[in-house]
Amino acid sequence: MEIVKAEKMGFCFGVAGAIETCNKTLEKMKGKKVYVLGMLVHNDYVVSDLTAKGLQILDEEMLLAGKDNLKPGDIVIIRAHGTTKDVYEILQQRGVDIIDAACIFVTKIRETLELMEAAGEEILFIGDKNHPEVKGIISFGKNVHVFKDLEELKEFVIDKKKQYSLLTQTTLNKHKFEEIRNYLEKDYPNVNIFDRICGATYERQRATEKLAEEVDVVLIVGDRKSSNTHKLYEISKKLNNRSYLIQNAAEIDLSWFQGAQKVGITAGASTPSELVVEIENKLRGTQND
Ligand code: F3S
Repeated sequence: MEIVKAEKMGFCFGVAGAIETCNKTLEKMKGKKVYVLGMLVHNDYVVSDLTAKGLQILDEEMLLAGKDNLKPGDIVIIRAHGTTKDVYEILQQRGVDIIDAACIFVTKIRETLELMEAAGEEILFIGDKNHPEVKGIISFGKNVHVFKDLEELKEFVIDKKKQYSLLTQTTLNKHKFEEIRNYLEKDYPNVNIFDRICGATYERQRATEKLAEEVDVVLIVGDRKSSNTHKLYEISKKLNNRSYLIQNAAEIDLSWFQGAQKVGITAGASTPSELVVEIENKLRGTQND
């Protein structure tokens, strides 16, 4: 049985950077309390590894309610998706050392938003208003209108006498972005369109499509809580009915591979490579039995 891996899979640049920051900080700052704000990544394996090394999770809601145990001099690492202006301010008031591991793509969108608002523009923002990344970015603005998709945007009356900037969540689907761009370019020259979509999600989705078409069985490795892993599973399942989402090697059911010549493996952006290796080893070990 041949094992084929997706051309792009696993940790994205931002998540890999944030995890490295946590590991380095834990090593360098022995004896200090090191916290990470919220869930660093939606993967229990990664989080358990870091908490075993001493990292503590700082609950954002508890912090906002003043029910945390932070002391001046503690270290707080900001996760890859960033956080809200309120949280940054509270952390500064507490006198903790902030290490900002927010992904550069997220920070760039926030900076563009602040810049364009300072230039007098209103912001049209496409994204999920409940997602931490979106909550964080829009908290830095004053005139931000959030829409989940083009349909919602169409219901908004764009004033042709005003200037607007269009910004999006990093993970917005590229096709959806192009539809929005076409809609705005046709009638609204007063909207500046910024393409700030991060390629990592898109590349992983395209690589999964390609994989699902060329193999008999697809294993999608990742945590069930991870939305991007779920998305990869849905994409794969549409093209290949023998697609399975697994969290670790123990979940593999050998009956899935009956008669299969090629097995494909892909992984969500929050899945560590160790888990993929574990799965490959299990598949190879099975073949030798
Ligand atoms: Fe950054 Fe893109 Fe990952 S925005 S956190 S590199 S999915």
